[in-house]
Amino acid sequence: MKVMVGVSGGIAAYKAVELVRALQRHALDVRVTMTRAATRFVQPLTFSALTGHRVMTSLWEASADASSDAPIDHIAEAQWADLLVVAPATADILARFAHGLADDFLTTMYLATPAPVLVAPAMNSVMWEHAATQANVETLRQRGVRVVEPDAGQLACGMVGPGRMAEPEQIASAVLGALGRSHDLAGEVILITAAGTREALDPVRFLGNRSSGKMGYALAEAAQSRGARVILVSGPSSLHPPIHCETVRVTTAEEMRQAVLARQAEATIVIKSAAVADYRPVAVAAQKMRRSGPLTLELQPTEDILAEVARRRAPGQLIVGFAAETEDTVQQGRAKLLRKGADAIVVNDVGREDIGFDSDDNAATFLTMSTAIDLPRMSKRKLGDRILDEIVALRRPQSLLVEMSSAEMESLREQPAPPRKAILIE
Ligand code: PMT
Repeated sequence: MKVMVGVSGGIAAYKAVELVRALQRHALDVRVTMTRAATRFVQPLTFSALTGHRVMTSLWEASADASSDAPIDHIAEAQWADLLVVAPATADILARFAHGLADDFLTTMYLATPAPVLVAPAMNSVMWEHAATQANVETLRQRGVRVVEPDAGQLACGMVGPGRMAEPEQIASAVLGALGRSHDLAGEVILITAAGTREALDPVRFLGNRSSGKMGYALAEAAQSRGARVILVSGPSSLHPPIHCETVRVTTAEEMRQAVLARQAEATIVIKSAAVADYRPVAVAAQKMRRSGPLTLELQPTEDILAEVARRRAPGQLIVGFAAETEDTVQQGRAKLLRKGADAIVVNDVGREDIGFDSDDNAATFLTMSTAIDLPRMSKRKLGDRILDEIVALRRPQSLLVEMSSAEMESLREQPAPPRKAILIE
């Protein structure tokens, strides 16, 4: 969905940068328009770099189309937006909206947009409480504009009182509410594993894999934006977890196992998107191993965390795994679903370069015992939402697994893997 952020000229304009980031984290397509005064506080370049779109500051700016010197079509921009949010909204912009002035891009857009409008006022307390401002706000309210009330506190001018702009996350929540984005996961606690694990060979080397954590972090962000409390158990990753997301950092498969088992009881849903090592070296060299011809490593299997979590699940707890496959993806995924005893498996083809490991996009099949839902290539953030949609749908009691006897379930569990030998060639 598309959101136009209008920035007017107050000291809180810097917080509009955080608002843009918060809206983007909710997978919204964001553009920005600024009043002339706002450009004195924040450079338009900051917003254009963040959004990838030109920032509109004047009615007379030339269009981006080099073949035309016509000004940007403010009507088209007004039609583009599914919602206009103005933050900060100064006393001046509220007055101009209330009186229907159209003397710059933002005020013209306000009059021309059929989309819902939200304003987040920010100003000195005396200005906020002034009868003129209150009358303008009331006029706007009566015309359907939603107001994200300013907070009380220390203001930039040194006064203490109402007038401080609401926090960007709060404004973002109001935007999501106005767009009808539901908080359908409110009350759920979702334990998500992400990224790969590392198994040390010696103090400088490890066995690892190509997982960046992007898929798991995208799921965490999507779940959080839909109201869930998220516990993210992450292997090493350079990504920043979503704000307010409780993150447990681990390195090895065993550390991930301990962290997941310690928190499993809190969760209503467990999603295992991490790429966990299947084997670890039997012995870890205390000193750096010296190079001296071919080397044989003895590996032992790690515990299968997904299978263990599925065995220990509390009634009603949903367990969703991932399967990283390179051939016969759906058949392999279904076999894994059976062996591990999960409610669903998200199978992705990690042999492809355009999706899977480390890419921003992914495509998958959401498999249950009775269904296979194709989720074509899209951003990992959007896929996170689609996977959550399917998980929410699983709450309807139709899974074949539910109807299986426990003896049947047990016979399908993964058998322990035999020890393996591997040759490490440096
Ligand atoms: O992190 P990105 O770069 O964004 O890449 C995302 C991804 C490709 C890693 C992700 O989409 C994915 O496929 N994750 C699962 C990777 C994996 O380990 O798949 P698997 O088929 O080997 O394992 C199947 C399931 O068992 C997984 O849920 C895995 O977490 C779990 N498992 C595996 C081994 C083990 N010892 N314990 C486990 O719990």
